Amino acid sequence: MQDAAEKKKFVKEKFSSISNNYDLINSLVSFRIDRYWRWVTTRELRPFPQGAVLDLCAGTMPLALELTRQAPERRVLAVDFCEDMIRAGLKTLPADERRQRITPVCGDGEDIPAVDNSFWGCTVAFGIRNISRPQRGLEEMYRVLKPGGKLLILEFSRPTNFIVKPLYFFYLNRILPLVAGMVSGDKEAYEYLASSIAKFYEPEDFIAMMRQAGFSRSYRRTLTFGVVSIYVGVK
Ligand SMILES: C[S@@+](CC[C@H](N)C(=O)[O-])C[C@H]1O[C@@H](n2cnc3c(N)ncnc32)[C@H](O)[C@@H]1O
Repeated sequence: MQDAAEKKKFVKEKFSSISNNYDLINSLVSFRIDRYWRWVTTRELRPFPQGAVLDLCAGTMPLALELTRQAPERRVLAVDFCEDMIRAGLKTLPADERRQRITPVCGDGEDIPAVDNSFWGCTVAFGIRNISRPQRGLEEMYRVLKPGGKLLILEFSRPTNFIVKPLYFFYLNRILPLVAGMVSGDKEAYEYLASSIAKFYEPEDFIAMMRQAGFSRSYRRTLTFGVVSIYVGVK
């Protein structure tokens, strides 16, 4: 059993090792459905087309980019604790005006580098599972959101449909580490992906954690047969 500090070190190293191939592997192993998931998540912020948004665990910044694409006046603070992921993202960001509206910062989701009540939206795509102390992360997200601001957490979940479930777990545990391991050269990183999905909280327990952090109107939306969930909360 890893303690929080060990998990943090492990996660940082793993993302650093796959950073240059992260986008390619993501598209490959998700058949590009990950773009649709980020699109739907971003659409949840339609009521806030101008307010600043925090994209936490931003990685190579695909969601930050979608946030700026959907709202031409929106500014995004993209925070990730793995410098190599941000650097890899900076190499691939399109050289248009959207780039000017994304501010990448190296920082920890358990101690967000922003003052209280700063953002109208906070997004976390495939990041909460990786944060060593997720309750602490949720409290920080609550702190930096403005009252009325919206939290959106996009995360893998475990489908329950009796046809989809065995297919999905076979793919996740057997095929994905093999393919992604070959492309990235780090099979362990993708075995970690499968095991961290298996270990993640039950949806109702995670929603209870959001409520404990202070969020109201918390609920989840499932997409693609429950392969992913969007957890929504309001400060
Ligand atoms: C699976 S990637 C997701 C990247 C991106 N959001 C996306 O949609 O593809 C997870 C990211 O979370 C970051 N991360 C994990 N724990 C973190 C923490 N405590 N603070 C900041 N970033 C963290 C990792 O460095 C990694 O870049």
